[in-house]
Amino acid sequence: MNYIGIDLGTSGVKLLLMTGDGKILNKVTEEYGISFPHPGWSEQDPRDWYDHTIIAMKKLISGIDPSSIGGIGVGGQMHGLVLLDEHDEVIRPAILWNDGRTTEETSYLNNDIGTSRLAELTGNIAFAGFTAPKILWVYRNEPSNFARIRKIMLPKDYIVYRLTGAFTTDFSDASGMLLLDVRNRRWSREMLEICHISESMLPLLRESSAPIGTVLPSVASSLGLTGSVTVVAGAGDNAAAAIGTGTVGPGRCNISLGTSGTIFITSGGYVQLSNNALHFFAHADGRYHIMGCMLSAASCNKWWMDGILGDHDYAAAQRPVTDDALGTNPVYFLPYLMGERSPHNDPSVRAMFTGMSMDTTRTQMTQAVLEGVAYGMRDCLEVARSMGINISESCICGGGGKSELWRRIMANVLNVRIKTLKNDEGPALGGAILAAVGSGAYSDVISAADRIVEFDSVIEPDPEIASRYDRGYQVYRELYPRIKM
Ligand code: XUL
Repeated sequence: MNYIGIDLGTSGVKLLLMTGDGKILNKVTEEYGISFPHPGWSEQDPRDWYDHTIIAMKKLISGIDPSSIGGIGVGGQMHGLVLLDEHDEVIRPAILWNDGRTTEETSYLNNDIGTSRLAELTGNIAFAGFTAPKILWVYRNEPSNFARIRKIMLPKDYIVYRLTGAFTTDFSDASGMLLLDVRNRRWSREMLEICHISESMLPLLRESSAPIGTVLPSVASSLGLTGSVTVVAGAGDNAAAAIGTGTVGPGRCNISLGTSGTIFITSGGYVQLSNNALHFFAHADGRYHIMGCMLSAASCNKWWMDGILGDHDYAAAQRPVTDDALGTNPVYFLPYLMGERSPHNDPSVRAMFTGMSMDTTRTQMTQAVLEGVAYGMRDCLEVARSMGINISESCICGGGGKSELWRRIMANVLNVRIKTLKNDEGPALGGAILAAVGSGAYSDVISAADRIVEFDSVIEPDPEIASRYDRGYQVYRELYPRIKM
């Protein structure tokens, strides 16, 4: 049988078709827009997600025997607030993971309810992008929309709902709502009360690989699918990417350089973090993970190259950066184009270049953008290190991870061995693996990922470059406290 993996991202939806033993038969990407109705806000129309998913699915399976499709698994951008009314109509555009409008609600949750109470109830504290502060924002600012709410869901759950009619979510994605009691894997009654909502508005909770239904006959016939195609609960995109990079079982690490930048560290069991600057969420392998999330990562380079320089040849722009220049760049970039999540929890901070002089070159600024993201990632890793977590190697995935230079910078700034993958398909591959497990092709997620995921090259940190970057990091970490408002 073949399996479809869907990655519902921020810039577009990516689908792939995988055979039961992990061979990729086809891939399709469909892009969609994002709107920034106010500085620091970001929204998308869930109907656009679905329409583009269907267009992509038709392209993906054209020419494929429809009876060979055994299952579908969706990984999706996390934390987004999708609201449906009593007729299942979308009430307002979805408020996305990188939207920073909830400063007041986040501060109410962290200060009035209190971070220690939140951590007891959910394993986490409030960050502006999480779902609960967004629900409170709608309650306070759009009471007529709030009154119409019948269903609250996450982005990928909207796709699953439209495909199957099943109103479900999985534990990894639900963890990022700040409504889930992550330790006990159930909705937190107290959090629901704090957000003025009832459990009937929330989806059923399932493990990521659990089959939750089959594609509705009307959808199946429009797609040309025959028979019943199983859909699994799916996962948040970071957990799905971790499955797709073999980051399963305890003590492994994955770095994703997409629109966001994340460091994802697996954990065998539940841990009450002493430092909630990082998130503690359920993983799609049935266990848990720690995660740091930067709001702008590969998007910084896209902003700089496409938006500012108007130059789409990223490889040519990076080619002049030699090993000698690594760790000696006088230019620094703070990657806070959308504010920052981990570890600063500061939606208002903004990006900055510093250290330029009359002889600064465009190449140094390009290099500084890549380094700024790597230093931001190190900020997250340092929090994990301060908790006694020792990371010596990590996989890398996402658009930014395709740059050899960026991988080298990451390896040396973090002082961690960086591994690439033969099939760098991140969340879409993870979704397909979850579908294969849910359809019975594998007994569990860990053995499926271990069988399917293959590693490619390895970049070792160079002691000399890493020590130069250590000094650079000391400069970098002094900058945020100076620009914080
Ligand atoms: C993770 C996060 C982002 C989005 C990107 O907490 O907010 O990585 O999931 O799609």
